[in-house]
Parts: sequence; C-alpha cells; structure tokens
Amino acid sequence: MKRFRVPRLRVLLSRPRPSRRQSVSRSFLRLSVGAVRLALAIVVSVLTGCGDDSNSTGPSIPFGTPYDLVIPEGFPAPEIPEDNALSVEGVELGRRLFFDPILSIDSTRSCASCHRPQFAFSDQARFSRGVDGRTARNSMTLANAAWMPALFWDGRAASLEDQALQPVVDADEMGETWANVEAKLSRHPRYPTLFEAAFGPGKITADRTVKAIAQFERTLISANSRFDRYAAGTDTLTAQELLGVELFFNEIGDCFHCHGTVLLTDNQFHNNGLQATISDSGLASVTGSVYDAGKFRSPTLRNIEHTAPYMHDGRFQTLSEAIDHYDGGLQSSPTLDPLLVGRETRLTGEQKDAIIAFLLTLSDPDFLIRP
Ligand code: HEC
Ligand code: HEC
Repeated sequence: MKRFRVPRLRVLLSRPRPSRRQSVSRSFLRLSVGAVRLALAIVVSVLTGCGDDSNSTGPSIPFGTPYDLVIPEGFPAPEIPEDNALSVEGVELGRRLFFDPILSIDSTRSCASCHRPQFAFSDQARFSRGVDGRTARNSMTLANAAWMPALFWDGRAASLEDQALQPVVDADEMGETWANVEAKLSRHPRYPTLFEAAFGPGKITADRTVKAIAQFERTLISANSRFDRYAAGTDTLTAQELLGVELFFNEIGDCFHCHGTVLLTDNQFHNNGLQATISDSGLASVTGSVYDAGKFRSPTLRNIEHTAPYMHDGRFQTLSEAIDHYDGGLQSSPTLDPLLVGRETRLTGEQKDAIIAFLLTLSDPDFLIRP
C-alpha cells in the first residue's frame, strides 16, 4: 500500500504535467497504432479466408469521425477497448440511447432515470425505482467511469460495454429482453441511420448498442472542481478547507488510502465496517472467496455533495453521518479493512467540519450542467 504525506501529495497533484495537446496527440498515436493493427488483422483474415462469419455485426474498426477525448491534465490514460474507439457519431448515439426509455420494457425508465446528470449521474433515492420494484443497491455516479476498472459496487462487470448489458434485462431495472430492444430500435424511424453512421452497415445488435452507450459514458469526465483548480495553482481554498485537505490526506483523518489519487478513489475493494453480520457479501458474490465478504469498491468522492444518500445501501443521508461512521461507528467483522481495525474516535467536531468543507470543494459545476 502506498503511503505518502501531504507535501508529497501536493507535489503529485501540482507537478507540471504534459500539455493537453501532448497528451491528446499521444492518445491519437495510440489510436492510430491500434487502427493499423486492426487493419492488418483484417487484411490477414481476408487473405486467409477465415475472417467474417454470418454472426458478425460489421466492421469493428473505428467508424465515423474520431472523437477527440480530452484527457484532463494529471489523469492517467483510460483503458479504451481496441474494438470500441470513440467516434463523434458513436458518442452521440450513445447519449441518445442513454436518455431513451425505449430500452425498458414499458418505456418508463431510461439509464438517466437512475443516473441523472444534475446528481452527477446518480439519483437521490436510497434504492432506485425500476420498471418493477427497486434496485438492491444505491445508484452510482458515472463521473470518470472511463477510469473504473471493474464496474458496480461488487465489481461484477469488467467493462462499460459488459456493464450496459445488465440493466436492460435486470427485472428491477429495465426488465426488457435484448431481442426486443434490437427489434424496437430496428423499426424506429431514426435509429437505423444513427447506428449506420456510428458503426457502418449491419444490423442493430445488443453489441453495437452497448458499445455506443459505453462510448458516451467515457466522455463523462469530471476534473474541474475547485480542488482541481487549487491543485493546478489557479484557485485558492479557505483555511478550513485546507485543514480538511490536510486531515483527509494525513494519518489522522486517513481517508486517502482508499479515496486518494486524482480520481479520489483507489478503485480497490474494502470492507469499511458497515456490517457486523455480512448480509450483502459484495465482492465475495463475484469471487466466491470468504476473504472478500462485505467488500465493496471505494467510490470516487468527486461530486459527493450531489450523490447522497451514501454507501452501497444508501444508509447515510448526509456527509456528517458518513464521517461519524468512520469516527466511532465502525462495525467489526472478520474482513474489516486492516486500516480500520481498532480505529477509535479521533476527530474533533471542528476537524469533521473541515473534512466536509474539503469534500464540498470536489463538486464540479461544469460536470453537473452537462446536457
Ligand atoms: C432502476 C435504476 C437503474 C437503471 C434504469 C440503470 N441503472 Fe445503472 N446502476 C443502478 C444501480 C442501483 C447501480 C449499482 C448496482 C450494483 O452495484 O449492484 C448501477 C450501476 C451502474 C454502473 C456502475 C458504475 C460504477 O462506478 O461501477 C454503470 C456504468 C451504470 N449503472 C450504467 C447504466 C446504464 C448504461 C444504464 C442503461 C442501460 C443503467 N445504468 C440503468 C441503477 C440503475
Ligand atoms: C479502508 C478504506 C477506506 C477508508 C480508510 C475510508 N473509506 Fe470511505 N469508503 C470506502 C468504501 C469501500 C466505501 C463504500 C462502502 C460501501 O458502500 O459498502 C466508502 C464509502 C465512502 C463514502 C460514501 C460514498 C458514496 O458514494 O456513497 C464516503 C462519503 C466516504 N467513504 C468518505 C470517507 C472519508 C471522509 C474517509 C476518511 C475519514 C474515508 N471515507 C475513509 C473505503 C474507505
């Protein structure tokens, strides 16, 4: 586990970074290398006659106009699957699908019903209302989804494409079948043209649908909070907020081990002491290992002001309750994270307020007003 003190972190956050243009051109380079590799693969498969079969959904080489995804300074390059490079048409199609209730059985729920832009693409319910019943867990923000290596609280989806397959057929969410979705989209007046523009000739398939949605989700980047501007040296924080920064990133408040880096999450799975008796096994339901019981992925704390209620089961309404949890409310169980074992009450009221003040600097108005 990486341990660093505040000064080093400051350096980490404010060190000179490659300019926007450099990082973009580097990702272009990577894209074009990918394209050359794909083109070669296609030539080879055509020559050897073992390429396309009847199940193929058309070319997976980038189609349409390359989308210029601007990676914020200081962010690592996101992993983008080689067969789903972003295009302007693909992102636009994905955006439309994301907001369209056509994906649900009774046309009442879209992805955006539970992932609402004004709440950083989460919602305000403890458990979200689906077409029939409610979800078993709290909805998650989609801010910087491109950097989340395993999706869902328990990490059960390996990519955004894989993830998007699930809500459509989940009885608690959209309750539809993919065959119906393909049929509805195929007879829609606009979608066939939009799919062709994004992916070239070929049928509308579940595969193309989730690829477009994933492309759109990769553009949901949040990197312009006051704290980002402070780290870049272009904005200032108040004395209280600075105390919060210090406590968050030092061993007293000690939040950074799990909510650190520029993403404000370590993207790892931990048991943070919510359950004395494990009723939702979290990561263990995916790995089958008892050592993973009650572990969930640390969520990003970006835009946390707007994503209440908190935790996988939405049990806390306020940030104050969430902080009190770490300061006297921890439940012990065999997989409790070692960092939290024996953690006693250690923060004063003033210190808790300072941490909250810092958390509020992680809101990014640019992100929340995105259309
Ligand atoms: C009925 C509400 C509902 C609908 C509709 C819904 N979601 Fe979700 N979404 C959730 C909940 C709840 C979770 C967390 C579930 C879990 O972890 O078990 C989630 C998790 C996710 C995640 C994982 C985020 C992360 O950081 O791991 C992504 C991505 C996502 N949804 C995208 C979508 C897309 C795309 C659609 C439409 C195809 C969609 N959702 C439809 C409620 C919903
Ligand atoms: C050992 C790792 C760890 C440490 C240390 C830690 N957290 Fe967490 N945090 C998590 C995990 C894991 C979750 C999600 C748990 C769940 O829902 O089951 C979480 C959830 C949260 C949430 C709710 C986020 C949401 O979207 O629902 C907040 C707020 C939060 N933590 C704040 C803090 C603060 C403030 C500190 C320092 C006082 C801290 N955390 C320390 C691992 C940690």
